[in-house]
Amino acid sequence: MKRMMIAGNWKMNMLRHEAKELTQNIVSGVKDVKGDIDILVAPPFTALDIVGGLISDTNIKMAAQDVFWEDRGAFTGEISPAMLIDAGCKWVIIGHSERRGILGETDSIVRKKIKASLGDGLNVIVCVGETLKERESGKTIKIVRSQVESALTELELDEPGKVVVAYEPVWAIGTGKNATPEEAEHVHATIREITGNIFGQDSERIRIIYGGSVKEDNIKELLHMENIDGALIGGAGLNADSFVKIVKIAGE
Ligand code: PGA
Repeated sequence: MKRMMIAGNWKMNMLRHEAKELTQNIVSGVKDVKGDIDILVAPPFTALDIVGGLISDTNIKMAAQDVFWEDRGAFTGEISPAMLIDAGCKWVIIGHSERRGILGETDSIVRKKIKASLGDGLNVIVCVGETLKERESGKTIKIVRSQVESALTELELDEPGKVVVAYEPVWAIGTGKNATPEEAEHVHATIREITGNIFGQDSERIRIIYGGSVKEDNIKELLHMENIDGALIGGAGLNADSFVKIVKIAGE
């Protein structure tokens, strides 16, 4: 059994006072969860310091939603892995479909960000997933395979547990339409096979989590699947009650 992961991606939401309240409610809601589980929140950059202060000494860890691949220098507007660690992050989300789709982030950019982050000691959640058009034209596996291979091939990995792959079908994000557990499991099993080809036995330690309209009423059956090791939560993670319920179900 792998350690489960539940991560709340707050996206471009939460002013600092809102982030404070949400964090306080999550901290008190999950404080007694003792299961073998990583609980993560990913606030916007502007709330990292306030959230980081509130979760230190709790069972919650903090992730950033993006990162740049250089350590320092003339890169206006960017944030380096070292800066994220300095702000209290242990994790970073890389290659979310909103960044790929809206900001034109390519597989090669995603790969550079992964390498730089791991090199500096951050753990990474790498997002992959197909669009509706790609699914309808039968290209799901082809797309996901090329995203995973591009992200992870020939990566020097001293500890495979530092990499998590998040399968997030783009058509399921923020739409209320989640992949069925069987649909998700089919892709997760393929990702497991791909990481197995890349890392051999070590790939057993790589977790594959699902994202896309996860809620308290569908989390249980998703986590029942053999190759689903947790969830990346968007909308439901902005509500402390829902997020805490999801964490508790996952921690059971
Ligand atoms: P959603 O977002 O849960 O609102 O669908 C998931 C994500 O984008 O990580």
